[in-house]
Amino acid sequence: MLTSPLVLLASLCAGLVQAQPTLEDLYVDNAPSSPRPYVIPHYANSHAVTVESQLYRFTVTGPSSGYTFTLMSTNAPGSGSLGVLPHIHRKHYENFFAFKGRFQLWAQKGESEQQARLLTQGDYGSVPRNTTHTFQILDPDTEMIGVISPGGFEDLFYAFGTNYSSDTGTIYVPKASTGSSSPSGSIMSKLQKFDVYAQNDFEPRRDLVNGTAPVDNSEWHTGSNELGAPGEPYFIANGYGEKYLNSEHGYQVIQPLVSPKQSQDTNHTISTISISRQTKNSPPSYTLSGAAAFEVLEGVLSIKIGDYPVATLNMGDVTFIPAHVPFTYYNEVSFTKVLYVSSGNNGVDQQLIKSGKSWNWITWPKN
Ligand SMILES: *[C@@H]1O[C@H](CO)[C@@H](O)[C@H](O)[C@H]1NC(C)=O
Ligand SMILES: *[C@@H]1O[C@H](CO)[C@@H](O)[C@H](O)[C@H]1NC(C)=O
Ligand SMILES: *[C@@H]1O[C@H](CO)[C@@H](O)[C@H](O)[C@H]1NC(C)=O
Ligand SMILES: *[C@@H]1O[C@H](CO)[C@@H](O)[C@H](O)[C@H]1NC(C)=O
Repeated sequence: MLTSPLVLLASLCAGLVQAQPTLEDLYVDNAPSSPRPYVIPHYANSHAVTVESQLYRFTVTGPSSGYTFTLMSTNAPGSGSLGVLPHIHRKHYENFFAFKGRFQLWAQKGESEQQARLLTQGDYGSVPRNTTHTFQILDPDTEMIGVISPGGFEDLFYAFGTNYSSDTGTIYVPKASTGSSSPSGSIMSKLQKFDVYAQNDFEPRRDLVNGTAPVDNSEWHTGSNELGAPGEPYFIANGYGEKYLNSEHGYQVIQPLVSPKQSQDTNHTISTISISRQTKNSPPSYTLSGAAAFEVLEGVLSIKIGDYPVATLNMGDVTFIPAHVPFTYYNEVSFTKVLYVSSGNNGVDQQLIKSGKSWNWITWPKN
């Protein structure tokens, strides 16, 4: 780009008054106390708390997102018992995503049949409000990602968890599970002010076959999974969901996990987006009316937010972009896949889907 001496002079003078923000300003260890752009590296402290053997990190919080959504992760060893006693949230829509490892998830809405699934890397489970649910972590190297809308649900964990910090950055504390990672029934009954309603009569079914119960019609890792009816729980196995191909700037394959139809009242969307190497056209700039976050699942994401220098995010890193702040993202490696969360119904994922086409593959065309 040609820069005239006058422009150069003007920006130099501006620089004397206000220093350009640096990457160090963008990178934080804990989600900030009010919305601003930031990047949190994978396994940073992120307001971590422990609940028995489970280590929770909160990469987007109520305060950091203007109370639009919470983004969190749970690392824990496998356990022989439930990770939490069965319960309902009346106001919060909870979303479970397997970053790595294995966990089991149960969900039941009203009198509908109880559903259970075994989630492995990239699988997703949707728990809308008033759905009884619980989970159990199964493998030694498991990380669950949680998206909860609206934001602020982490207050529950601050209330009954133990604040955690580590000099070594260990991903969880290596000690055997005591059997129950769950607060006791008496504590659970005190949690209604945090929107947790214990469901003590819920008996988690154990009759899973090939990762699912019931077996009939569930198509778990065997066929396509549709997004559910509004208010109903549903599950999408990695790559088996609806997909769209967008060809505007390199290729992008979008797999929606929550679309505006499912989250009418909680007002968020979630998708995975797989991005080809982008070399030819300069990528577009987005300025959204809602907050957004990216968590890298594979590859390397480059992102320029506002006046900050370009940040390059690796697997597990999270970036948060407040509403009305311009940003541009692109990919310089072969295959980058992100989990994308957006407040409102017109985030990057919905825009890419609108100008894309229905597509059957997790990857893009050869040419
Ligand atoms: C735990 O951390 C939170 C913020 O991360 C803080 O508000 C709270 O005071 C801490 N609690 C204790 C007991 O240190
Ligand atoms: C959830 O259940 C509570 C209590 O039954 C009810 O008041 C509320 O309207 C329900 N919310 C939704 C979104 O169904
Ligand atoms: C479980 O998976 C195996 C291997 O694909 C298959 O042969 C078997 O029929 C499945 N069982 C049920 C109950 O679907
Ligand atoms: C949904 O979110 C968008 C973006 O944050 C916001 O502009 C809009 O007012 C919200 N709608 C509702 C009904 O809350």
